[in-house]
Amino acid sequence: MTDSSLQIDTTRPGLARMYDYLLGGTENHPVDRALVDEIAATDPGVFAAARANRDFLIRAVTHLVEEAGINQFLDLGSGLPTQDNVHAIAQAIDPSARVVYVDNDATVAAHAESLVSGRDNVEVVLGDVARPQAILDDPRVRKLIDFDRPVALLLVAVLHFVPDAEDPWAAVRVLLDALPAGSHLVLSHVSLAELDELAGTTDRAFEKRSIELNANRTKEQIRRFFDGLELLEPGLVETTEWRSGTAAPRKVSDMVIYAGLARKN
Ligand SMILES: C[S@@+](CC[C@H](N)C(=O)[O-])C[C@H]1O[C@@H](n2cnc3c(N)ncnc32)[C@H](O)[C@@H]1O
Repeated sequence: MTDSSLQIDTTRPGLARMYDYLLGGTENHPVDRALVDEIAATDPGVFAAARANRDFLIRAVTHLVEEAGINQFLDLGSGLPTQDNVHAIAQAIDPSARVVYVDNDATVAAHAESLVSGRDNVEVVLGDVARPQAILDDPRVRKLIDFDRPVALLLVAVLHFVPDAEDPWAAVRVLLDALPAGSHLVLSHVSLAELDELAGTTDRAFEKRSIELNANRTKEQIRRFFDGLELLEPGLVETTEWRSGTAAPRKVSDMVIYAGLARKN
């Protein structure tokens, strides 16, 4: 089944819909659930890992609005911004906050109408992180984001879907170069580099559906996304350890997702 106007193919798994399923949403189809369930057979904690990633995002956005005075967000690889979304979190603290959601999954764009209708400060744009200049040049991005004021660039749980051949490090650099001092980078990235069994199951499950996952990156390779920035406390750590306020953070899943927040000085 394909919606020709938006190119939504529900015969193949969609990453935004899979993530929606992982978070307990209803905007997903059997093909999406099948791939998630295949991974969950090896690590049932993947649902909790997705939740922990989203909770990191919520804490980071809250910090940025409350402590850093940021009110512009460029959220790349946003997923379906339906639950605990960035604009709801940011605007609850600062009603003037502006958010542009960008994703290359047409399912996200299909939800744009219902999401942004009646809102002046939220946009949804179809775009590819690996083509950063096209995102920066998009008129809807430029209409909402003032590139002379600090911006929060969110790249949360998305860069492991961008292959080395497309040089995600260079893409991040292009995006950061367009932002003024005082801007921040919020980033998380799956790393299965030291997890043989889970890495094998996950790779095979994605490969069968012709989706490339680049979770073999090490912590050091992920840290390179922050080159030239001031990595704020507590540094690059697992999502559950990032300012979670608990003395002994829980290990919710075998899956490792590193997370960090950095400032451009
Ligand atoms: C795991 S979800 C993360 C959602 C949200 N950022 C979060 O962490 O809560 C990953 C999202 O990245 C999107 N994505 C994958 N590759 C992308 C690319 N090259 N450009 C833009 N979005 C991409 C997927 O469609 C999916 O919606």
